[in-house]
Amino acid sequence: MQNTHVQRVSGPNLGTYSFDEFEERKQELARLKEQASSFWQQEKAVLVAHGIENCHNILDLACGPGVVTRKIKSLVPNSHVTGVDLNESLLNVAISDSRQDGFDSPTFRQADCTNLPFETSSFDFVYARFLFQHLCDPSAAVAEINRVLTPGGRVVIVDVDDRDLSVTPSCSSFDQLTRAAGVFQSRGGGNRHVGRTLDGLLKSHHFTHVSRQVQVMSSDQIGLNSFFRITTQFKVEQLPTELAGQMRDLLPEIRRELTSVNATITAGIHVASGLAC
Ligand SMILES: C[S@@+](CC[C@H](N)C(=O)[O-])C[C@H]1O[C@@H](n2cnc3c(N)ncnc32)[C@H](O)[C@@H]1O
Repeated sequence: MQNTHVQRVSGPNLGTYSFDEFEERKQELARLKEQASSFWQQEKAVLVAHGIENCHNILDLACGPGVVTRKIKSLVPNSHVTGVDLNESLLNVAISDSRQDGFDSPTFRQADCTNLPFETSSFDFVYARFLFQHLCDPSAAVAEINRVLTPGGRVVIVDVDDRDLSVTPSCSSFDQLTRAAGVFQSRGGGNRHVGRTLDGLLKSHHFTHVSRQVQVMSSDQIGLNSFFRITTQFKVEQLPTELAGQMRDLLPEIRRELTSVNATITAGIHVASGLAC
């Protein structure tokens, strides 16, 4: 496996997600893994609908611990699948989990999504899952995706838009936490409303056949506690210390409120796609 090209990357594109800054890294890793597996059947259907099974060189951009990268490799076993991420700790997990699979595994590289170590026209499918909400310069990432895709190659970008995150019946403490998370992510240069902008971004880089749809995911599918843990609770750890402390104290109240009204949390996940020019 020629996949341990590891080089420290620093600069303005580091974005608003840093795995190494989580106090409880084991917990965050478990969350990333659970989140990548919980809705895989729904996600797989989206990827298949966008023609991934006919592709030969697939890039999972910002692959994190590589759970989805490995699932893509199993879905399209005759393709070459590459996972790229900035974070070395997550890449090491991706590499070691792949070795344990004991079959032809993906290749992993450390790189910034706005400066990829690949030749022009290297891939016919690029997938970016929950990356764009963290980027200070999403346009630079789309330009780089366009460069590494073959003309006519497909990009699929999946991300959140918190205007489509809701709780029924409403829960004020939940709203307080998600609002605080949104404000601090945008102060760091990220954007929790990025979902609705994704098709416009692709069009501005002359992608063709651009589309955007919203996939609805709900706590009714996996249970309220799991859904809250993988979509919302972790945001506390990304807040500045003092506010994180306040929000951590609020967590039991949020859980109590959600459970007492038997709430359903619903998230609209935006899926944008287009063909490179
Ligand atoms: C929320 S995680 C999503 C990981 C994975 N796509 C998934 O869905 O499980 C965001 C990922 O983006 C990576 N990331 C953030 N900024 C990046 C950049 N500029 N280039 C490459 N990866 C980046 C982080 O290291 C992290 O692994």
